[in-house]
Amino acid sequence: MKTLKIEGNHPLSGTIRISGAKNSAVALIPAALLAGDKVTICNVPEITDIDALSEILEYLGAHIHRASESIVIDPTSIVNKMIPEDVSKKLRASYYFMGALLGKYKKVSMYFPGGCSIGARPINLHLKGFEALGATVTNDGNLYTVEAKELKGANIYLDIASVGATINIMLASVLAKGTTTIDNAAKEPEIVNVATFLNNLGANIKGAGTSSIKIRGVETLSGGFHEVIPDRIEAGTYAIIGALCGNYLKIDNMIPSHLEALTSKMEEIGVELEIGEDYILVNHAMEYLPTNIETQVYPGFPTDLQQPFTVLLTQSKGISHVSETIWENRFMHIPYLNQMGAQITVEGETATIVGKTELHSTIVEATDLRAGAALVAAALKAEGTTTIKNVEHILRGYEQIVEKLTNVGAKIEIEEID
Ligand code: EPU
Repeated sequence: MKTLKIEGNHPLSGTIRISGAKNSAVALIPAALLAGDKVTICNVPEITDIDALSEILEYLGAHIHRASESIVIDPTSIVNKMIPEDVSKKLRASYYFMGALLGKYKKVSMYFPGGCSIGARPINLHLKGFEALGATVTNDGNLYTVEAKELKGANIYLDIASVGATINIMLASVLAKGTTTIDNAAKEPEIVNVATFLNNLGANIKGAGTSSIKIRGVETLSGGFHEVIPDRIEAGTYAIIGALCGNYLKIDNMIPSHLEALTSKMEEIGVELEIGEDYILVNHAMEYLPTNIETQVYPGFPTDLQQPFTVLLTQSKGISHVSETIWENRFMHIPYLNQMGAQITVEGETATIVGKTELHSTIVEATDLRAGAALVAAALKAEGTTTIKNVEHILRGYEQIVEKLTNVGAKIEIEEID
């Protein structure tokens, strides 16, 4: 098990360069198997979720070459076979192999994906989409087999604007016969990034980034080159850390318009921000105003930043509320924040934060990726040295977090313990 030791209360200044988006890269890598030739993807973050996906591609027979921040995938040698449970359960995004393998080979057999325990996380909308395209779905316990004689375009309405289902249906329908329409599609920037990649390979996808996506099936896709967009959640996490302890901390190589829901809330509570074309400069203040947030699909306030933002609200004088509407189990960091001195109560889907409270060090545990990020933010603000256990969750999504924070003045060390 890996642990982090963070000595808090040091001002952070300098520049943090944002990596490629995890939630884009984890879809682009499985999507690459649809290509007819070699694909190069650059700005790929070096995080353990990418290692797990590369492992699955290699298991299927793809040739992979990874150099710093880029990955070359040759899918021409892939053999479609069942993906075993020990690899599929390493991460949520293994479910993108369902859409990609189904789209290319008309059959996929794999186990239910893993990922953070932040809610029930069903895949019924993905499967409903595959069925609408003409596939049949059978399952034996956790093993799902989805197959079709032929995939035919269809009109699919998603009951929930699901990121995963939207991307998976795009992957399954890109080589299908005829036109597929996804209505109430998710609009996240990662979806646009995946659609642009597929279009660069010769797909015909229109409307990505809106709630209605039209995919006209094509016969084949070529190889190509693509770049992962900057990680808006990593950028948002560091912006929040900047508001807690930044001394003109620059969050660089990012797309500020992807984070408007966060930056407008930060400005509302009194955070001093300079928003440039591809950066945010953030300075901390001693105290902030309280506010209320409710997580929503893009462009609303992102659920993936709710946990770190809650830490910032402990520094607001007065009562704030955070309502989590996407995942039913995303408050697991709260007991640990309370141990560190916060005053937060949770009722149903809403956390009530009474501030301002001083934070102090203790021993805490990362229960999921963004809970872990929230605890890092709290530890950087806290007096004393905080120990964070189960850091593996954090390393799934934040590239070189120790190095990036050390470079701007944080006192942070990672240790391997038994
Ligand atoms: N849902 C269903 N049925 C489905 C699919 C989703 O009921 O078939 C529900 C979910 O239970 C949830 C809601 O719909 O309540 C939204 O889920 P969505 O499918 O949009 O989430 P996801 O694709 O599984 C991605 C990100 C998450 C992020 C959410 C929401 C990846 C690999 N994961 O998950 O990221 O929270 O979208 O933006 O892209 C993270 O990075 O920490 C993370 C959890």
